Amino acid sequence: MIYFDNASTTAVNGEVAELMYDGLKNMFANPSSLHGLGFKSEQAITAARGQVAAAMGVEAKNLYFTSGGTEANNTAVIGTALAYKNRGMRVVTSVTEHPSVADSFRHLEELGFDVVYLPVDSGGHISLEMLENAVDKQTTLVSLMCVNNETGAMHDIAHIYKTIKLKNPDCKLHTDCVQAFGKHILPTADLISVSSHKIHGPKGVGALYIGQGVRVNNLHFGGGQEKGLRPGTENLTGVIGFGRAAELACADLTKKAEKVGAVKAKLLEITSLLEDVYVNGADDSPYILNLSFKGVRGEVLLHALEAEGIYVATGSACSSKLQKKQKIVDLLEEGRGESAVRFSFCADNTAEEAEKAVEVLLKTVPRLREFQPR
Ligand SMILES: Cc1ncc(COP(=O)(O)O)c(C=O)c1O
Repeated sequence: MIYFDNASTTAVNGEVAELMYDGLKNMFANPSSLHGLGFKSEQAITAARGQVAAAMGVEAKNLYFTSGGTEANNTAVIGTALAYKNRGMRVVTSVTEHPSVADSFRHLEELGFDVVYLPVDSGGHISLEMLENAVDKQTTLVSLMCVNNETGAMHDIAHIYKTIKLKNPDCKLHTDCVQAFGKHILPTADLISVSSHKIHGPKGVGALYIGQGVRVNNLHFGGGQEKGLRPGTENLTGVIGFGRAAELACADLTKKAEKVGAVKAKLLEITSLLEDVYVNGADDSPYILNLSFKGVRGEVLLHALEAEGIYVATGSACSSKLQKKQKIVDLLEEGRGESAVRFSFCADNTAEEAEKAVEVLLKTVPRLREFQPR
């Protein structure tokens, strides 16, 4: 099997799985219980919070566990906008954000917020000038993702942060780092979302970093866990796994990026071996390559590759269940989305796997093109 769908999710690391199994068997007490067993569970959460925070380069006291990247994004966008709504009702994002951010902004629109959606160029980048114009004194929040999940295009968050703060020091910047964490050094921002299952950790757990002094309204109500921001009995086993996965993922970032870069470069060779193959979005992150094979529907190619043991995606797995799917690729270049296929990598992938994929594409794409009207 060749698994090139790591942006959808990753295989759980063996050591992480064992740690979780041990936790499931031996550490079942509620972390809020006042007895010694409960204290042991609470200690495990504290340790994991330290591991994830260290991997993100932030302080543990500012990190809140959530049920994943989606909840971290919902809380960051809606919770922050609501917390500052007396200061201003203008918020800014881009047209290429993940549905968990995009739909949060749509919800804010329904609540009466003035939402600015910044367009992107064919590489998937916003214009800093447009951003500067969009941020005024009433703007309380900007949310821009670090690495795009469909194309791998990266926003220059460091520059964006400076631009926003120069225009309005009170405006907060949130960045969805779900596809950046464990792959790139995380940028400075007021709020940062990450998810465990993209870094060989378990599904259903993520975290939100909230900078010192930044106010965020809680969207859930209950027992006061996670300082009331995310009440509910903690996903103890998930958090334990996330902690170790974060440690492992964030070691040797440069070495892993080089290895993955070689896999991507090998696969990119297909663009010079086959006619009418286009790269969608800027070639920013080595972890994602989005290609359109003209004349072949992405979904048809996906299944043809699957028959050869190669697993890819046609876009974001998170939006494949949405009624009205909008492909980010179509926003960059009209008409490319239909034939788009996303290859996404992890450090376990090899250049040999990419070579094999090129071989399969060379025989499969021309065959499929014969059967599909151009
Ligand atoms: C950029 C981005 N943000 C957020 C999410 C949602 O994360 P989760 O699946 O943990 O809810 C994803 C998942 O695909 C993603 O790629």
